Amino acid sequence: MRSLDDRTIVLVIGGGIAAYKSLDLIRRLRERGAKVRVVITAAAAHFITPLSASAIAGEPAFSDLFDVNDEHDVGHIRLARQADLIIVAPATADRMAQMAYGLAGDLAGAVLLATRAPVLLAPAMNPQMWAHPATRRNLAQLRQDGVQTVGPNSGEMAESGEAGIGRMAEPMEIAEAAERLLSGNGPLAGRHVLITSGPTHEPIDPVRYIANRSSGKQGHAIASAAARAGARVTLVSGPVSIADPAGVATVHVESAREMQKAVENALPADVAIFAAAVADWRPESVSAQKTKKAAGGLPTLSLTENPDILATVSSLGKGRPGLVIGFAAETEKIEEHASAKLARKGCDWIVANDVSGNGTSTGSVMGGNLNRVTIFQKGGDSESWPEMDKTGVASRLVEKIASALQAGK
Ligand code: CTP
Repeated sequence: MRSLDDRTIVLVIGGGIAAYKSLDLIRRLRERGAKVRVVITAAAAHFITPLSASAIAGEPAFSDLFDVNDEHDVGHIRLARQADLIIVAPATADRMAQMAYGLAGDLAGAVLLATRAPVLLAPAMNPQMWAHPATRRNLAQLRQDGVQTVGPNSGEMAESGEAGIGRMAEPMEIAEAAERLLSGNGPLAGRHVLITSGPTHEPIDPVRYIANRSSGKQGHAIASAAARAGARVTLVSGPVSIADPAGVATVHVESAREMQKAVENALPADVAIFAAAVADWRPESVSAQKTKKAAGGLPTLSLTENPDILATVSSLGKGRPGLVIGFAAETEKIEEHASAKLARKGCDWIVANDVSGNGTSTGSVMGGNLNRVTIFQKGGDSESWPEMDKTGVASRLVEKIASALQAGK
């Protein structure tokens, strides 16, 4: 049995240069067993032809809301009802805006408004358009409406050679996201996993802040792996320059206190993983105006301690996640410091990594792609994993979490 056997997927192909990749997506979905019904928007027809989409889908593609043949038995309602999942790929800024407002002026819009099926968007647009406040607003609205996203990825744009976040996810990634959405199984199905990731920024004045070198790569990779394993995932991310992981509800924060609030809002969870490099201190007072250079003196920065989010969640009575996992970024005496941290913070596991760069092949963990970790568990067990890339660490950690939950820890 293939993963998408007996599933009908309506694929809305939007008008963007990435439309050509959607032809490959049809193939990827069909080879997993799905029946694919294609809707080509008027704009998409400038990039690909209904004929090529029909040939690959193995049935005629739909393209016009008022096609007499299709609409005589209310075609858009039929399409909307038949779908187990609707994928919009590429999802342009314009389509996202239409969806956010519930506009139904063409077949794609009508199908998207009439459906009860889950909707998966694969956004693709110029990085400036993706970053525009209007697009951010529409995206936030769509997520609130329950729409899922995959990508966009960062990389070079086909049309302008510009680099940034905005490239459509690869067909394989979209097909995998569809599998995930429709499978409802996987070792973490039915579980809620909460993850913190990235650095925090602690403001000094409106233009300056205290930060650290965390890239968020490890925490984001764990969020992706947990979603792939079927979990409902909430990721609370500090400021990072990497994309939100597919199929994950991502909450963006700046400071430690905002991170703590977002974590509290996301509870209850079955598993909480604290991969963020939270700033230990913040300036005691934040100046409302930019601090000016004054003649004859240096400003002094008075610091105060930030709340320890991991320790707070670990010490919850009722409402404590069943498994609480911390990270320990250490530059020396890893075992000693990590074991002490495990006891001090009251968590169940500590994933310790040596961020000194000694003993890793690249010499840099923070910001890099490789990691070598040792897991210390309450009760004294520990295991060291060989150096691997951060997605490898993420998958293995998720496997370990799944078997711990299964064993009833
Ligand atoms: N952590 C947290 N809130 C804080 C500080 C840390 O939730 N205010 C979490 C981190 O996400 C990580 C763990 O605690 O999972 C350990 O972080 P680390 O910075 O290594 O520990 P510290 O308590 O800051 O200890 P130290 O800086 O003395 O090594």
